[in-house]
Amino acid sequence: MLVNFNEMLQDAKKNKYAIAHFNINNLEWAKYILEEVNDLSCPVILGVSEGAARYMGGFIVVSKLVEGLMESLNIRVPVCLHLDHGSSFESCKAAIDAGFSSVMIDASRHELDVNVNITKKVVDYAHQYNVSVEAEVGHIGGDADNIYGDKYMATLDDCLALAKTGIDAIAPALGSVHGLYHGKPNLNFERMQQIKEALEIPLVLHGGTGIPYPDIKKAIACGISKININTELQVVWHDAVVEFIHDHEDVYDPRKVISSGEKAMKQKIKELIMIFNTPLGNKNEESNII
Ligand code: 13P
Repeated sequence: MLVNFNEMLQDAKKNKYAIAHFNINNLEWAKYILEEVNDLSCPVILGVSEGAARYMGGFIVVSKLVEGLMESLNIRVPVCLHLDHGSSFESCKAAIDAGFSSVMIDASRHELDVNVNITKKVVDYAHQYNVSVEAEVGHIGGDADNIYGDKYMATLDDCLALAKTGIDAIAPALGSVHGLYHGKPNLNFERMQQIKEALEIPLVLHGGTGIPYPDIKKAIACGISKININTELQVVWHDAVVEFIHDHEDVYDPRKVISSGEKAMKQKIKELIMIFNTPLGNKNEESNII
C-alpha cells in the first residue's frame, strides 16, 4: 500500500535523519530498491520524473508496476510513490489520478508569484486525495533528465512565500545541482539552517549525487529530511554492467545483462541509507495509507 511522505518526513525532521528518495527508471530499478529497503526494514520514496514515466509507458503503468511489485514481493515497509519535478498542474493531476501518493510541483522556472499560484492549485487538488506535495524555490540546476538551468539560490523570503501555499515539504535551491558535479559542491548551510528554523515543513535536498558524505551529514544536521538520489545509482549500475559485458561478450539475455548491475545498486542503496542515518526495523506500518 502506498503512503504519502508526511509521516516519514515529519519523523525524520524530529529525529534528525533523512529519508532516501531514489529515482526509478524501469522495472528493475523499482524492484531492486524495494527489495533492498524491505531487507533493511526502512521507508523509501520512489521518485519518478516525467521523462522516466514516459519511458515506462505513463503514470498508470508506473503506479500499477510499483503496486504490483509491492504485492508480489510482499514489501512490508512504507513506500511513497512521488512525481519528481512535475512541470505543471496538469502533470501533477495526471500522476495523482493514476495513483501516485505524492507529487512535486516544480514551477521554479517562473517568477515567484506564478510559482506560488501554480503550487497552490496543486496543493488544493492533491490534499483532497491525501497526496503530499513538495515544491521548489530558487532553481536547482544541472543536466539530469531534461532539467536544465543555472543555479539560483532560494532566499528565506522566497521559502516563506511558497510555504504559505500549504505544501508539505520544500526544496530550496541552496547550491546543489542535478547530475554529476563539475567542481566541488558548495552548499549554503547557513541559509539551510535559517530556513529550517523559520519553517515548520521538512526540507528536501535535490542533487544528492556527488555530495561528500560529511556534507550530507551536515545538511541533515541543518534540517534536511529528504535526499534525492538519481545519477549515483545509474553510475554504479553502469559501471557494473560495463564490466560484466566486457567479461561476457557472448551473453545477450537482457535479464542477465541488466541484473549484472543489481548487486552494485543494492550496495549503494544500503550505503546511502546508512549515511542518511535512517532508522531500520520499520516494517508493517499501516498509518497514513491512501
Ligand atoms: P542526482 O541525479 O544529482 O542524484 O539528483 C537527483 C534529484 O535531485 C532528483 O530530483
